[in-house]
Amino acid sequence: MVAISSNNQKQLLSKIATNDGHGENSAYFDGWKAYANDPFHHTENPNGVIQMGLAENQLCFDLIQEWVVNNPKASICTAEGVDDFKDIAIFQDYHGLPEFRQAVARFMEKVRGDRVTFDPERIVMSGGATGAHEMLAFCLADPGDAFLVPTPYYPGFDRDLRWRTGVQLFPVVCDSSNDFKVTIKALEEAYEKAQESNIKVKGLLINNPSNPLGTLLDKDTLKNIVSFINSKNIHLVCDEIYAATVFNKPKFISISEIVEEQVGSCNQDLIHIVYSLSKDLGFPGFRVGIVYSYNDTVVNIARKMSSFGLVSTQTQHLIASMLSDEIFIEKFIAESSERLGTRHGLFTKGLAQVGISTLKSNAGLFFWMDLRKLLKEPTFDAELELWRIIINEVKLNVSPGCSFHCSEPGWFRVCFANMDDDTMRTALRRIRNFVLQTKGLNNKAAIKKQCSRKFSKLQISLSFRHMDDFMNSPAHSPMNSPMVRT
Ligand SMILES: Cc1ncc(COP(=O)(O)O)c(C=O)c1O
Repeated sequence: MVAISSNNQKQLLSKIATNDGHGENSAYFDGWKAYANDPFHHTENPNGVIQMGLAENQLCFDLIQEWVVNNPKASICTAEGVDDFKDIAIFQDYHGLPEFRQAVARFMEKVRGDRVTFDPERIVMSGGATGAHEMLAFCLADPGDAFLVPTPYYPGFDRDLRWRTGVQLFPVVCDSSNDFKVTIKALEEAYEKAQESNIKVKGLLINNPSNPLGTLLDKDTLKNIVSFINSKNIHLVCDEIYAATVFNKPKFISISEIVEEQVGSCNQDLIHIVYSLSKDLGFPGFRVGIVYSYNDTVVNIARKMSSFGLVSTQTQHLIASMLSDEIFIEKFIAESSERLGTRHGLFTKGLAQVGISTLKSNAGLFFWMDLRKLLKEPTFDAELELWRIIINEVKLNVSPGCSFHCSEPGWFRVCFANMDDDTMRTALRRIRNFVLQTKGLNNKAAIKKQCSRKFSKLQISLSFRHMDDFMNSPAHSPMNSPMVRT
């Protein structure tokens, strides 16, 4: 076969296919590659990289498995369910199975504490929230138009909303001075800046609960946001895919509650919810994504577009059955939230013991870790330098704040729900050892300061492994602390 140069490929293929809009060349995805090249395994690769860059909810699969075993009729590939095989296999209506839409609408109500109602007729399917975002971007904006989005934000948004649609994302800069809250001032500033750059703003994208922060938007903020988009006459897309991951007070408030409270006073045609079962149920592989729009025209157009990313009928059938089992679902939601809370508490308290703080949060499958004190200097280069040490020496794939467009260097997202308890203990021990050693060396550094100005914080990496051996001895293991024992 004749090799074709990448320049030649670019000429042969489309601009969309060959541009770098996918965003694969970021630290976020590099971390995944580092994990893929050297994945941790307790016995087969105990010094491998632990994956903490994947927001997956794997803590309740025992419950799901039990339900699947007890409900063989839910699958069309069992003796009990095979009678439905033909009907399910030939169904191809892009409205989806009525029982699926009904069950998803009901589930969305349950997750929101039964304080709102959802109309199954407004449920439009897509391939995960990924497909839902792109579908909405296609419906709401033209190439070159922009959505405002508060920072830090989920790196996938760059791919999902921008890549194939030609839409832009314009940052609403939030920072740690007020715990990254979204303020009207920040929204107005971003809107004005976009106007000054001749960029047409078509909407605001919010993510509540937030990935990567794990925090919720409070009611006043949500009301302010609705007033803001109404005053500008722009759309509001609310990604609520972490709605059922809330594990502590305050409770989650959905944009749908504001819509129902403000009937008549807010323009509902501007409001659209993105939902999926990837996080709340932990099924990213099923690709169940939802657009729920309050705008009739958007529902109609999105439904037509959904032909490009339907959820397979087999999956719809299984999910309809599972979600309709309300007793199971209630138990699942409660248990999942409890297990997430326990895991989050163990991790963040374990870190607090060695002086590492995290942004106070009560939702999500991750927390936002503050390593600003460990940076050689307050720059994104220094953040990436520290991140490389964490990946290559500490062997943890956490994600640097710059990949979330964070405005301040030194923050890292740490996922905690995609691993078993033993892996969690190993990960926590590695971070703690790393920090303890860093501190030790910093103290030494202070003493040596007069002698050698060349000593750098980042030299810690060289002897980290020895510290790990030392700390792993039973007498010194931080895991002997009652705070981190399970
Ligand atoms: C905020 C947010 N939106 C959308 C997605 C994509 O989800 P899905 O797997 O349903 O496509 C993710 C995945 O991590 C996410 O964190």
